[in-house]
Parts: sequence; C-alpha cells; structure tokens
Amino acid sequence: MSETPQERIERFKQILRQVPTGVTVVTTWDPLAHAPYGLTVNSFVSVSLSPLLVLFALQKESRTLHALERKGAYLVNFLTTRQAKTAWMFADSRIPMDDRFQHTPWVEGPERLPILTESLGWMAAKIRDVWTAGDHRIYLGEVFDLALLEEEPDPLLYFRRAFYAPGRPVD
Ligand SMILES: Cc1cc2nc3c(=O)[nH]c(=O)nc-3n(C[C@H](O)[C@H](O)[C@H](O)COP(=O)(O)O)c2cc1C
Repeated sequence: MSETPQERIERFKQILRQVPTGVTVVTTWDPLAHAPYGLTVNSFVSVSLSPLLVLFALQKESRTLHALERKGAYLVNFLTTRQAKTAWMFADSRIPMDDRFQHTPWVEGPERLPILTESLGWMAAKIRDVWTAGDHRIYLGEVFDLALLEEEPDPLLYFRRAFYAPGRPVD
C-alpha cells in the first residue's frame, strides 16, 4: 500500500529528529500592546555577510506573528546550556506570554526588542522580506545591531526532542 500524507510527514520528522540544531529564542516588541513577545526557534539561518542577512520560519498560528509584523523587527537570542528551561518555556503554547518574560531575565535592547540576558549573544534585525511558505511565514531580516555576551559559551543543542550540551570533538 502507498504511503499516506501523514505517514510521509512522520518520515520527514523522523529524519529531522536525527539532525541536531542550535536553539534560539526570537523576540519582538508589540508597539500596540506595549509588550514583549517571543518563542523558541531552531529554524534560524544566517544568509549573507554583505549585507548581514538572517532568516527564520514562524508557524502561522504563533502568538508572536502579529506583534512581529507590526514591529517589523526581531531579535535572535542564542541560548546556552544553562537556558534549557527557558527553551522549554518559550516552546510551550500553554504558557501565557507574560509568564514567559516574568520568569526569564531580560532587558529592553535596541528598538525595545527584548534581550534575554543569559544568552551567549544576540542579533537584532529589521524585516526586509516576508514569504508565506506552507503553514509558516519566513522572515528575512537585515541585522542592524548584535553582541556576543560570552567569550567561550556552551551553546544549547536540540536533538531527538531533547536539549544537549556539545560533546567531544571528532577528527
Ligand atoms: C527546539 C524547538 C525549536 C522550535 N523551532 C520553531 C521554529 O523555528 N518556528 C516556529 O514557528 N516554532 C518553533 N518551535 C515551536 C514553538 O516554539 C512553539 O510552538 C511555541 O509555543 C510557539 O509560540 P506561541 O506559543 O507563542 O504561539 C520550536 C520548538 C522547539 C522545542
């Protein structure tokens, strides 16, 4: 019997579960509600050096979408191994947005975009292009400010539905 669309999606996810990624929390500031928004994201990609361009994909039902499009800018926080709890919290859609920020140390950064202060670094970007891609929206941003907060950080990794610290080097 041929594979159903659902079975194909499962196979797609099964393969991607074997591919480790870094972990970020993408934040924005809603100029209408005067409130911070953000979620855990591993679809972050660096795209270009001249100019500095990055992108990430956002599911259309995300609570952050409208705030992001009103603001026209976002900030990518790169997480360390000390922020696994933060990553889970910003990935749990049952947790109210206010609670996410109340339980996480943060400050207002450039353009009021929230910086999670325990992150290893961050990049703030103005949205230059947006595409609808299936059930997601893709936001290409031009980086206008950035900082490395830790010299030798332990970046947080995501793999097989769990968070990890980097392992041993291989030749
Ligand atoms: C490691 C990890 C990476 C994720 N990456 C993305 C992503 O790139 N884009 C996305 O829209 N959701 C991603 N999610 C799911 C969202 O973080 C999650 O659905 C979140 O609750 C959505 O935010 P909301 O509750 O404010 O709508 C990821 C979740 C995890 C655990």
